[in-house]
Amino acid sequence: MLKKKFSKSEDKTSLLGFGCWGIGKSLWIGAEDNKSKKALHSAINNGINLFDSALVYGDGHSEKLVGEVEKESGQNIFITSKIPSKKYEWPAKDDSTLKESFPKEHIIKSTEQSLKNLNRGYIDLQQFHVWNDNWANNDDWKEAIFQLKKDGKVRYFGISINDHQPENGIEAGRTGLIDSFQVIFNIFDQSPIEKLFPFCKENNISILARVPLDEGGLTGKINSETQFEAGDFRARYFKDDRKAQVQERVEKINNDVNGETDSIVETALRYIISFDAVTSVIPGMRTVEHLLSNVEIINKGPLPNDLINKLKAHKWDRNFYK
Ligand SMILES: NC(=O)c1ccc[n+]([C@@H]2O[C@H](COP(=O)([O-])OP(=O)(O)OC[C@H]3O[C@@H](n4cnc5c(N)ncnc54)[C@H](OP(=O)(O)O)[C@@H]3O)[C@@H](O)[C@H]2O)c1
Repeated sequence: MLKKKFSKSEDKTSLLGFGCWGIGKSLWIGAEDNKSKKALHSAINNGINLFDSALVYGDGHSEKLVGEVEKESGQNIFITSKIPSKKYEWPAKDDSTLKESFPKEHIIKSTEQSLKNLNRGYIDLQQFHVWNDNWANNDDWKEAIFQLKKDGKVRYFGISINDHQPENGIEAGRTGLIDSFQVIFNIFDQSPIEKLFPFCKENNISILARVPLDEGGLTGKINSETQFEAGDFRARYFKDDRKAQVQERVEKINNDVNGETDSIVETALRYIISFDAVTSVIPGMRTVEHLLSNVEIINKGPLPNDLINKLKAHKWDRNFYK
């Protein structure tokens, strides 16, 4: 598995990372811990070292599984987590203040809770789970970062950018304190390419590409008949005629790709790693089968340029989280 340099550091993180939301079992129904742990172990055995979790994923359950598997494996992995806004807001609202959302004590307390869940002394990358660039020049968050780094509890800091607002973090990036941005980037949402990617290349900031498979929309498994279990957030994400819209869009992509890849998942993941600014793509995976299939796909490398150009036409300006 190819590893790329993480931000300005000497650390290297795997091009395929492991998205750990689904295994936390909150909002995603259907994960089984024994299967999730097997997938996590298989990831480590296949050279994956970046695992993206968050305090709120199953109220610490995802972090606990990742921490357990790291210890069982005897290997040192690169664990990322996230601090929820104290207001529990996704995304951060325009008029929410830093004082309400990320006061210094809250940043420190959340990090300490994540360390307990992980049963570990430090987090490699701690991220703000939402962000509002109006806060960029306020000192409170910077002081929290300095303290957590000085105490050896966090190595790097990043921002998980609000859904479909790829530029809402650039001002914070200019402070020099941000090592990575986690952003929605996939065939449907190509918006980070224009401004965020060049900014990150210029400033040596890593990109973690999240929701690479559009929450399942880019797996070919969603059609007008698909049903989600009660409590699964995808029942809302793919509500009304959205499943039919997704099915139609995927068919159009497949027609344009015309057999140049073996599946829509391959097209989707290789599209993302075709962009040099991307340090790691982090699909959510809950089974060994998906893990192994994605390892094989990523090892095939980037897509040819003519295909990337064709895929430009498939961007889709919408927000299904609303
Ligand atoms: N605000 C934020 O910071 C935020 C928001 C969303 C996501 N994230 C991060 O980004 C990660 C990825 O996003 P996501 O998990 O929401 O969505 P995603 O990666 O776009 O899609 C996950 C879905 O794709 C399926 N899948 C994965 N590999 C597959 C394969 N080879 N073939 C067929 N289906 C496959 C998964 O199935 P199984 O689960 O059944 O394996 C799951 O249903 C999250 O896990 C989390 O770490 C962060």
